[in-house]
Amino acid sequence: MAKVDVLKAFSRLLHPKPVLLVTSVDGEGRPNIITVAWATPASVDPPVVAICVKKDRYSHKLISETGEFVINIPTRGLVDKAMYCGTVSGADVDKFRETGLTAAPARAVRPPIIEECVAHIECRVEKSVDAGSHTIFLGRVLAAYADEERFQNRMWLVPEADLVLHMGGRSYATLAEKFTL
Ligand SMILES: Cc1cc2nc3c(=O)[nH]c(=O)nc-3n(C[C@H](O)[C@H](O)[C@H](O)COP(=O)(O)O)c2cc1C
Repeated sequence: MAKVDVLKAFSRLLHPKPVLLVTSVDGEGRPNIITVAWATPASVDPPVVAICVKKDRYSHKLISETGEFVINIPTRGLVDKAMYCGTVSGADVDKFRETGLTAAPARAVRPPIIEECVAHIECRVEKSVDAGSHTIFLGRVLAAYADEERFQNRMWLVPEADLVLHMGGRSYATLAEKFTL
């Protein structure tokens, strides 16, 4: 097996990763959306997730200042809007207005949920780790809920849940099959 050097693309070896729409607010409560693929559960007890946000993103400023975010999980049908939210900055545009996505009140935090998404994880920042280009925001999970028709027995139905994954750049993937050992 010949192995080619991919150091410059090392992060792509860890893709595909679910496409996520992370909402945050500014000091006046104005919401923003950033598309994020670099995220992971980080602890079960207490429940903690980690998202990696580049320091120059507008969302980085909002999450740093207000200390809360919501991870919203879109389906394949929302990928155009995810691409939009992942290529323009909330410093320049109102992404809720431009995408037509619906902001609805969250259960435990100020940033809104995105109504069209099929699951939501509401978080309060517990700790920020400077990783270099990106900051890792460790968020204590205050609430998490999902579409009962797509998430059953503590698992996504695959392929019915119709989740969308990011490969890198403009490339995406969907899940074809679930198997159980
Ligand atoms: C599919 C996809 C995944 C992305 N993942 C991340 C990520 O994990 N972290 C990050 O900082 N930016 C990521 N980006 C880029 C940001 O979403 C993009 O820079 C966005 O315009 C920043 O918005 P903001 O300035 O309003 O916060 C991703 C973009 C796309 C399209």
